[in-house]
Amino acid sequence: MDKSSIPKSVRELNILIKINQDIISTLVFEDVLQAISNGMSELLNIETAAVYTLHNEHELLLGATTPPLPPGVPLEVRLASIDDHPHIKRAIQDRKYIVVDDTKTAKLSASEQSIVELRNLRSMLFLPFVLKGDVLGVLILGTCNEAREYSQHEVNLGQTIANHLAVAIQNAKLHQDIKDHRDNLEKLVHEKTQDLKTAIEELQAANDELYDKNEIIIDQNSELKDTLQHLKETQAQLLQSEKMASLGTLTAGVAHEINNPLNFIMGAYARLEKYFRNKPDPDFKESDILLESIKEGVERISNIVRSLNQFSRSSSAMDEECCINSILDNCLTILNNKIPSNISIEKRFNLNNFKVRGNAANLHHALLNILTNSIQAIDDEGIISITTTKDTMGSIASVVIQDTGRGIKNEDIEKVMEPFFTTKDPGMGTGLGLSIAYSIIKEHKGSIALTSDEGEGTHVHIKLPLILQTQQIKN
Ligand SMILES: Nc1ncnc2c1ncn2[C@@H]1O[C@H](COP(=O)(O)OP(=O)(O)OP(=O)(O)O)[C@@H](O)[C@H]1O
Ligand SMILES: [Mg+2]
Repeated sequence: MDKSSIPKSVRELNILIKINQDIISTLVFEDVLQAISNGMSELLNIETAAVYTLHNEHELLLGATTPPLPPGVPLEVRLASIDDHPHIKRAIQDRKYIVVDDTKTAKLSASEQSIVELRNLRSMLFLPFVLKGDVLGVLILGTCNEAREYSQHEVNLGQTIANHLAVAIQNAKLHQDIKDHRDNLEKLVHEKTQDLKTAIEELQAANDELYDKNEIIIDQNSELKDTLQHLKETQAQLLQSEKMASLGTLTAGVAHEINNPLNFIMGAYARLEKYFRNKPDPDFKESDILLESIKEGVERISNIVRSLNQFSRSSSAMDEECCINSILDNCLTILNNKIPSNISIEKRFNLNNFKVRGNAANLHHALLNILTNSIQAIDDEGIISITTTKDTMGSIASVVIQDTGRGIKNEDIEKVMEPFFTTKDPGMGTGLGLSIAYSIIKEHKGSIALTSDEGEGTHVHIKLPLILQTQQIKN
């Protein structure tokens, strides 16, 4: 459609709407002003436009111009004192437009004059823009080369655009504020995130260090526990061996003391026996029976003394040839008075000529502890059977001590060899018997194992290396 056929007012309205749309579609000052200048050139044949905003009470800031200012424009054009621009100052103070029809006849300040010359301006329209009662700045529209008059209608159109500009500037300012705020917030969040990251790293490092230290403490603690346990065991065993040593000295002394009077009795018996053999007394018929019982008694005492001597020999040497069968016999002799009549002993000894190298007193000690446990495990009637055998090669002796006592509970079987483990009432046992037996057998390069059924009885299996027959013959 031809522009001239559209009524003027409609065309103006369309241009105003377009300017408004252009203004609100951008937040860049130059673009806003370009939109105004484009629209105004159509509406009012305007050729240049400029926006000054109030920087503060005394200074003006040149927001933008169309066409743009050439490079190298002095700073005072961009940031000017309000007093150097009396027309702008008055428009702001009065909040009212000012029209300069012809710059050649108008009274202008030096600064205004230099701008007029810079832009070759002939007419100027100063339009203050106000938002919520505050003057934000002035929109200056102008023509170049030719002077012109502005009708009230044209001024109103210009003022309408200036008011739109106020809203656009406010929007841009708000937008800038929000952007600044957001940038600030982002910076803050970034800083805080960094701080937090550093704090977390520091915490992590401290945590790691603490963890390492904790590990070390746990290790040291368990080492300390082991050492303490070891110390306890050593102390207990030391105590036990000291006890055994003094018991040995005591029994050796007693055996020696018994041996002397025993020799007197043996001597006297031999004489008496000879006497009655040569001169039988028909009036003294029991003489044979009495002599026999003296002989029996004396033999028994000699056996006990011999066993005690074996048991009490205190030496740490490991080079004795020990006969397991004899050691077991000695132990039974020593324990004789502790074996009640309800317990029967079954011996199946098959190791007659076979020996173990080691310490006889210690082996007595170990087997005595095991036999004592079996005796103590039988409450009523029971059997303790002792079997010794060797393997086919003749290199390993096997000793099985089996009782029909009360047996060991399943949950205890793993613990019986631990020092101080006892099921006896407090004060009745040290719980060291089996642990000492274990160390002695181990010292002899042997092994010891327990199997048991609660209520049925217990088997103790001992294995010991034998001295090879060829070596025994050589010795
Ligand atoms: N032949 C067995 N029958 C049943 N329980 C046994 C037998 N041998 C050992 N035990 C169990 O093992 C525990 C530990 O035996 P160990 O000989 O080490 O100590 P103790 O006999 O309790 O005390 P101590 O030997 O100092 O008198 C015993 O208390 C007992 O419960
Ligand atoms: Mg015991």
